[in-house]
Amino acid sequence: MLIALLIIIFLLIWSVRSERMPGPTPIPFFGNSLQIKSHPNGVLQYFVENCKRFGPVTRFWIGSKPLVMITDFDDIEILLRTLDHTKKSITYDYIKPLLGEGLVTASGKGWHSDRKMLTPAFHYDIIKRFLHIFRGRVEILLENLEEKVGGDVFDVHELIIGYSLNAMIESAMGITLDLENERNSTYRKALKTVLRLCQDRTFNPFWRSDFVFRRSKAGSEFFQCLDIINDFSMNIINERRRQLKDADYSQLMIDENGEEMKKPFLDSMLMDGTFSDQKILDQVNTIIFAGHESIANGISFTLYNLGQNQDVQRKVYEELLMTCGRNLHHFTATNFRETKYMNMVLRETFRMYPSVPVFGRYVESDLKLKNTTITAGTSVSCFAYLSHRNPEVFPDPEVFDPERFADESRRGRHAYAQIPFSAGPRSCIGQKFALVQVKLVLGEVLRRYAILPGQKIGQIRSMFTLKPEGGIRIRVRRRSSSVVMIFTYRRGTWNS
Ligand code: HEM
Repeated sequence: MLIALLIIIFLLIWSVRSERMPGPTPIPFFGNSLQIKSHPNGVLQYFVENCKRFGPVTRFWIGSKPLVMITDFDDIEILLRTLDHTKKSITYDYIKPLLGEGLVTASGKGWHSDRKMLTPAFHYDIIKRFLHIFRGRVEILLENLEEKVGGDVFDVHELIIGYSLNAMIESAMGITLDLENERNSTYRKALKTVLRLCQDRTFNPFWRSDFVFRRSKAGSEFFQCLDIINDFSMNIINERRRQLKDADYSQLMIDENGEEMKKPFLDSMLMDGTFSDQKILDQVNTIIFAGHESIANGISFTLYNLGQNQDVQRKVYEELLMTCGRNLHHFTATNFRETKYMNMVLRETFRMYPSVPVFGRYVESDLKLKNTTITAGTSVSCFAYLSHRNPEVFPDPEVFDPERFADESRRGRHAYAQIPFSAGPRSCIGQKFALVQVKLVLGEVLRRYAILPGQKIGQIRSMFTLKPEGGIRIRVRRRSSSVVMIFTYRRGTWNS
């Protein structure tokens, strides 16, 4: 009798709480988790379908915790602009064992002081010093691409992620490891498993308790993989610590004018003296994870789009020849700015395929949006993947059209209409670091190879980072030098 009464009260509370905002019907204990987990097209599509159906502010229940997805640009701006809500939403809870108090998952004063301290490590002055590292790594990437010439379709993301992991460790961490080895691929496999299980755990109410999850098969796999990742990062930290001990760093970091240079990421923490060992590990895990995967996504999706759209590729190539000549090894800071059309292509690619499709905050006090108020204690996620597909701003949103980002088309558009790097105080710290590499790699690859259409992108199921099923499959053909030579400059434009 008492149990029946409790269930009725529970159901009543549920129905009252879930009435307040439009969203799919939850069930007690599970909320919408079962529907999310079992959606035939995966988690991302579940949210797409429901947000389209219920509107710009859609409520879900993850077990007994509310999650609101927002897609209206004004609402997104209100949430991201403020420093009042820097805590991350419940969708980050289960990635915390990996990222700890690193920049992505930390909040409050700790996040604020770390962000301030680490920001100079991603300044352009430092990135410029890394250009030779990126170029060296691109050479290896090109050797790997050469093996694919004339062959069948292949997953370009697998190749690019090898590049971006190596480039990240050699630049931001200052360590040259022989990363084409087994340990590298073991790390990548472990990271893949951890991300998959984080997502599974988010939508599995039975795994919410640490006690239960640790004892499950998935939990034991998760923690085994976490050990592999931590070992990988610790190895990097210890190696750099040893190198810094041996070198006269104070002399190394003086520029030609006798001024102290900004320190790269890992050095700035190791030399600061205020970061605990655990904090350094959290930050290193965070930067490797946040950085290499999304750069690889950006490059791979752009190559895919260029393969599918030969006319666009031709314009990008013509612009490259015009700005940099044949020798893209001298791709300089000025060239990055001059490649205007390539910028449009990148913006359009990041619109369609934002590497981080959803990012959220936990609202600790009531938050007034444009037409509604979010109650304290709610997680609110910006659904960039869907807001980037708003047909009123981006007509035919599934069509790849870089002209949407021509100056005249962008005029008057909402500043938050396309935010692949997020915006506001918690926006991506590595945006410049990423864009320099994306452009450099694209320039080098396109200089040597023409990208041919491969296979249409499969279903995208994941939520943490955008990963299509079956990878990103393209084909490549070597450009013959004769093709380059027949481009001639006629009346201000390049013609073949
Ligand atoms: C194309 C490449 C990249 C994209 C699209 C991207 C996107 C994003 C987005 C959307 C966020 C906000 C996430 C959130 O609020 O949860 C973010 C945050 C972050 N990103 Fe990136 N990112 C990229 C590359 C990088 C790189 C190369 C690094 C490091 C070198 C990096 C480090 C970070 C960090 C540390 C944060 C957390 C910042 C904070 O909360 O203070 N990202 N990134």
